[in-house]
Order: sequence, then structure tokens, then C-alpha cells
Amino acid sequence: MPLCVAVPKEQTPSERRCALTPDIAKRLLQSGVTLKIEQGMGEAAFFADDRFGEQVKISDKKDVWQAQVILTVQMPHIDDIQKMAAGTVLMGLLSPHQHLEQVKALRDGKITALAMELVPRISRAQAIDVLSSQAAIAGYKAVLMAADKAAVFFPMLTTAAGTIRPAKVLIIGAGVAGLQAIATARRLGAMVEAYDVRAATKEQCQSLGAKFIDMPIKAEGQGGYARELTADEKKQQRDILAQHVAASHVVITTAAIPGRPSPKIIDKAMVEAMAAGSVIVDLAAEGGGNCELTRAGETLCHNGVTIHAPLNVTSQMPVHASEMYAKNLYNLLILMLKEGELHLDWTDEIIAGSTLTHDGVIKHAATRQAIGA
Ligand code: NAI
Repeated sequence: MPLCVAVPKEQTPSERRCALTPDIAKRLLQSGVTLKIEQGMGEAAFFADDRFGEQVKISDKKDVWQAQVILTVQMPHIDDIQKMAAGTVLMGLLSPHQHLEQVKALRDGKITALAMELVPRISRAQAIDVLSSQAAIAGYKAVLMAADKAAVFFPMLTTAAGTIRPAKVLIIGAGVAGLQAIATARRLGAMVEAYDVRAATKEQCQSLGAKFIDMPIKAEGQGGYARELTADEKKQQRDILAQHVAASHVVITTAAIPGRPSPKIIDKAMVEAMAAGSVIVDLAAEGGGNCELTRAGETLCHNGVTIHAPLNVTSQMPVHASEMYAKNLYNLLILMLKEGELHLDWTDEIIAGSTLTHDGVIKHAATRQAIGA
């Protein structure tokens, strides 16, 4: 029997991405597996069932969970996890720290769950790196949202009604999302400044046309990520950044520290020093936000400054977000396929590193600790 890969419809109403696109379906079929999707699986991303071709079976809510491999965007509900047979491989953005009850159900059901956010960020895994593909989308979209909400033009304009000076845009956090935000804001013609605690980002920011804000703080942490700043460093950072924030029409924040709440970088006084009509787009809202006034998922106005803190930004660009996500999933899945059969090589650091649960055990140490198992 060929291996069966199934893709259920996402349950969260605000989730518009899907885990399989017609292109990736074609490639998977060529690798010798069979495919089934739940009816309407790709609808919210404009991939209607009939675009997947005749070889892809359209399943109902119950049958779709019966497969050797199940691809999702988000963590499934507990009752759906309970529909899966022991030994099923589940691959998705499972956010284990937010879904401890589901993790227990995966463990108890002996599901092999691979969490895409746990894929090690090594060169060989770049084509599987969901954090990067989705962050690039968020960075791009954040600038468009800011431009839409801003009270000013981004580019310089010379018109009969006078010359318009370009907008000043400040990007805080120059990881994948921040770098894409710099490139997008530059393309729209803004003057861009950028800041990150990792010194290595300076050259990357400059090569995209941003002016880098130099500070004596260097906070390179483990694995190419930032470490948390000390209280002294935070004060130093605040004092220097305050002037740049006050002078900006738009501030886009993307700063994150893995496994910790987002660092608070913009306090209330800094917002109050901005000109009315300015905009902050806080992309770190999922982790609590980089601005003290941020309310995750909301848009508010403080002294004339708009603070926009959208959640699941990538879902707002569902076609490309799904295409990139599905490609990341495919690249991980083919690592595990040998002649149409599933082979999990536990000596491969990508497979071992992304495994959340397997054979009744929670493999990811931080999640195991959070559950107290
Ligand atoms: P992230 O989403 O975890 O954080 C965003 C940015 O915020 C980072 O650049 C971080 O340095 C910065 N930041 C944290 N605290 C800050 C503070 N207090 N003030 C200002 N900035 C602050 O990062 P992301 O985008 O996921 O990637 C970061 C690193 O991951 C990269 O440098 C790279 O080394 C590594 N990476 C590796 C890849 C690979 O080889 N497969 C692919 C992508 C990233």
C-alpha cells in the first residue's frame, strides 16, 4: 500500500493558510504517495478543491485523520488528535508551549509529531525553515500596513503643490522580518533607520539601504539569536533609541528572544514623544509586543500615535504564505521518504531536532519541563 498523506481543513477561523498547494500536491504524487484533503481545505487561500486534480481524494472531516502522514498549519484540536492512529506522523506549526494539553494527547496517542518551529536553523535546513519563510511575509506586510495607516507619503515627491519629504521609518530588530521590512520600506521610498542588538546585522541593514543605529551594546546569544539585555543595557538602549523613535513617522518592531516574552523596547514616554499621526506596527505582538502600550491583536491610538499589533500577519497573504509553508513541509517530508515509504532517521539532526513527541514520549526538553513530565 502506498503511503497516504492527508491534509485537514484548518479549524481556527482566522487561519487562512493551508498546508498543501496544487503544485506541491503534484510533486508529492510524483514521489509515489497518495493524497487526500478535507473538502474546502485550501478555500481560504483561494486553492479550490478542483485545482488539486483528480488524483487527490476529497475526504470528509472524519476520514481525513486516517493517514500515515498528516500535514497542518496549526496544532489540531484534542478530539482530532484522538482520531489519529498510533504511529501517525503529524507535521505542523504546533506551538507546543501554547498547547500543552494537545501535546499530552499527542504523547498518549503515540503520535510522531514534528513541530516546524523546532527545525534546527542550520544551513542544510534553510529550505525547511518555516520561521524564515513566514517572517519574511510578516516583515513585508508590516510595512504595507504602516504605509496604509501613516498620515504621510513614504516617498519623496516633487509636485506643483510643493515638495514632500520622504517618511522616516525605523525598524527595530533586524532578523528575517526586520530585513524584509527594511527592503520593503526602501522600495516605497522611505528613509530607513534600523537597529538590532546583534552587531552582525549592521552590514545586512546597510546593504539593504538602511542607516544602522550604532550602540555599544552587543548581545549575541546562542545559535545566532539575541540574548536578553541586562537592566543597565536596557536603559542605555532606551536613551539612544528614544531620540530616533521620536523623530520617526513609522516604527516597525520585530524584536524577539527565543523562548522568552518579547523585550519591551518602546515605553509610554517614548510613544508620547512621537508626533501625532505617527504609526507603530508591533510585529512582536504574539510574544506580548515590543511596545509597552501594545495590546495584542488590537489597534489603538495614544496621543495621536497609532499602535497596530496584528496577530498571524502571514495569514493575510494566504496564497504566498501557503505556497512557501507547503514547500517547507514538502522539503522536510521528502527527507523522510525512501521509495515512497516513511523512514525516520533519528541520527539526522533535522528530524531528531524537530520531533516534539514520538512513541509515547515528549522529546522536546522545554515542553517536557513545561508539562512537568
Ligand atoms: P527573531 O524573530 O528571534 O528576532 C528578531 C530580531 O530581534 C533578531 O535579529 C534579534 O537579534 C532582535 N532582537 C532581540 N532582542 C532585541 C532588542 N532588545 N533590541 C533590538 N533587537 C532585538 O529572529 P529571526 O529573524 O528568527 O532570526 C535570527 C537569527 O536566526 C539570525 O541571525 C540567524 O542567525 C538565524 N537564522 C538562521 C537561519 C538558517 O541558517 N537556517 C535562517 C534564519 C535565521
